[in-house]
Amino acid sequence: MKVPAAVRRRVGELRKQIDYHNYRYYVLDDPVVSDAEYDRLMRELEDLERRYPELQTPDSPTQRVGAAPVKAFGEVRHQVPMLSISDAFSDEELADFDRRVRERLGVARVDYAAEPKLDGLAVSLRYEDGVLVRGATRGDGYRGEDVTANVRTIRTVPLRLLGTGHPRLLEVRGEVILSHAGFEALNRQQLARGQKPFVNPRNAAAGSLRQLDPRVTAERPLEFFTYGIGAVEGGDLPDRHTEILQQLRRWGQRVYEGIRRVRGLAGCQAYYEEMAARRAQLPFDIDGVVFKVDRLDQQAILGQVARAPRWVVARKFPAQEEMTRVRDIEVQVGRTGALTPVARLEPVFVGGVTVTNATLHNEDEIRRKDVRIGDTVIVRRAGDVIPEIVAVVLERRPRNARRFVMPRKCPVCGSDVERVEGEVVARCTGGLYCPAQRKERIKHFASRRAMDIEGLGDKLVEQLVERGLVQDIADIYRLDPATLAGLERMGEKSAANLVAAIERSKSTTLARFLYALGIREVGEATARSLARHFGDLEPLMKADREALETIPDIGPVVAEHIVNFFRQPHNREVIEKMRRAGVHWPRSRPEDGAGALAGKRFVLTGTLEHMTRDQAKERLEALGARVSGSVSGRTDYLVVGANPGSKLARARALGVRILDEDAFLKLLSK
Ligand code: IVH
Repeated sequence: MKVPAAVRRRVGELRKQIDYHNYRYYVLDDPVVSDAEYDRLMRELEDLERRYPELQTPDSPTQRVGAAPVKAFGEVRHQVPMLSISDAFSDEELADFDRRVRERLGVARVDYAAEPKLDGLAVSLRYEDGVLVRGATRGDGYRGEDVTANVRTIRTVPLRLLGTGHPRLLEVRGEVILSHAGFEALNRQQLARGQKPFVNPRNAAAGSLRQLDPRVTAERPLEFFTYGIGAVEGGDLPDRHTEILQQLRRWGQRVYEGIRRVRGLAGCQAYYEEMAARRAQLPFDIDGVVFKVDRLDQQAILGQVARAPRWVVARKFPAQEEMTRVRDIEVQVGRTGALTPVARLEPVFVGGVTVTNATLHNEDEIRRKDVRIGDTVIVRRAGDVIPEIVAVVLERRPRNARRFVMPRKCPVCGSDVERVEGEVVARCTGGLYCPAQRKERIKHFASRRAMDIEGLGDKLVEQLVERGLVQDIADIYRLDPATLAGLERMGEKSAANLVAAIERSKSTTLARFLYALGIREVGEATARSLARHFGDLEPLMKADREALETIPDIGPVVAEHIVNFFRQPHNREVIEKMRRAGVHWPRSRPEDGAGALAGKRFVLTGTLEHMTRDQAKERLEALGARVSGSVSGRTDYLVVGANPGSKLARARALGVRILDEDAFLKLLSK
């Protein structure tokens, strides 16, 4: 069938528009059309291509996915080798690099392009007349694998360059990565499908790109950032690296926006510090920064040695992953009795600190990672997060490596350990009898975001519990300077300071107090919603599961924990003791707009059979309702007991809903 000229034009137009919107969305992160509009354009193009198959071309935005799986990747010879970069591990090594560069060039100061060193895998994209014709991995630098079908599925890889003036042949080089969010999403999916999760984003990116079935790659949230070029023929590019990157960006390539031109060694050092500080907040992993002599004529003078150019250096960050050995696996008992296995490690310097422990979270996690005592493991510490065991190096497993077994008795108090069906956590059943739980509860109670008792640190809490001076949190309010001054490392002055701090903590807020109680699953945010909702402690203590579940963010599990907590006579006693000691907070009105009866106005009249009027009032208020003395046009319900007064007639006259006791009880139990 002959393709009408108008259709041909329209197809061209649609592709241009879609390519541009892809660029706005994926590269600039600044879309200019709605998703719906984009979908309409895409559908129109797909439709036309279906009707006129001769218009289908590989660079069409409809053609990202769909290539058939292969048995093996073809081999690609890199026209210009993909070299590596020499590393600098210290300021001195970086200074040496800069000195060598200056000496060879015979100049006093050099301009560098400063870039993050992305932790993924290097890929080359070959564009001929602006159309992507091949994607290849780095391989050994000379020969890589042909992964064209796979790179085409990456949304940030343009299938066709935007704009005009591209060289006839342009090889774009950069890094394929997975962001943290993408990595976590992928691992969640792996686990849900019963497959092994990936160890880190880099491995996951490499594994995803090297799938023989491009449809699998297409499902992986891979991203591409360009940092340079390879072969170029039939066209001109700017004569500075930073300007080339800007040109590539105009042609639709994604270039990290934090790439800068810096002046001299001082500029490099400032950039390194800046990126090191930002590292933990970046959405993807970087393992250092790269400095490249910016002027291409200077790059040419410098040339290369062995397998690395002399014009580039990678200033590496301290490694976030290192290998070490698991000496033992011990169990720690937390505030709620949760038993957490902790690996005791041979000390290892990682992420800028010496690490000797790493949490193993729970039994299932140990099984999943198959960590055994004696194993060599990869430990990771990123930012301020708790060090973690990423994986076991199985090749190094000694014959006598021992499996960990969760103890049946609490290692601290000897009580039974239980693991509830369906839960991952094993717990000590010792409750407040268990000194470990007691200590942790007290530490939590005194912590800054809870009651904020300055000076009541970990060491002191341990002494207080071990000497039986503090059994429960209320005992804190009975400590006196004389008792405290008798403790280790406690002078009279610090004892007096501590007593003053304890005194100060009595004046608090309901939210802090609730958080400090250490009710399971009640963190700061939940404590705040509870305080806002109920306004005071009494209505909360009386609330049942249903009432609690009406509060946003409180589900059945948390509701259950809260109800359970306040049901325990012991807990009620401790709270009472603290209030008697003077712990107080400003009460506020229960919040409108929350609770089963939130904002509803009630009036009571007559005598109820099952409760006093005061009790009825409390129950209503616990559900967020307001109770007033007289019926008005704004009254929602009148509750009528035996021998009602004149209120009933007034309510009838105003059309207020009337509830007898049965209906009222039903409403309360809803
Ligand atoms: S330039 C000759 N720039 O690091 C220089 N590489 O250790 C060629 N990498 O294979 C590479 N971020 O995979 C360059 N901003 C960046 C980079 C970067 C990460 C990777 C790349 C390369 C490896 C070399």
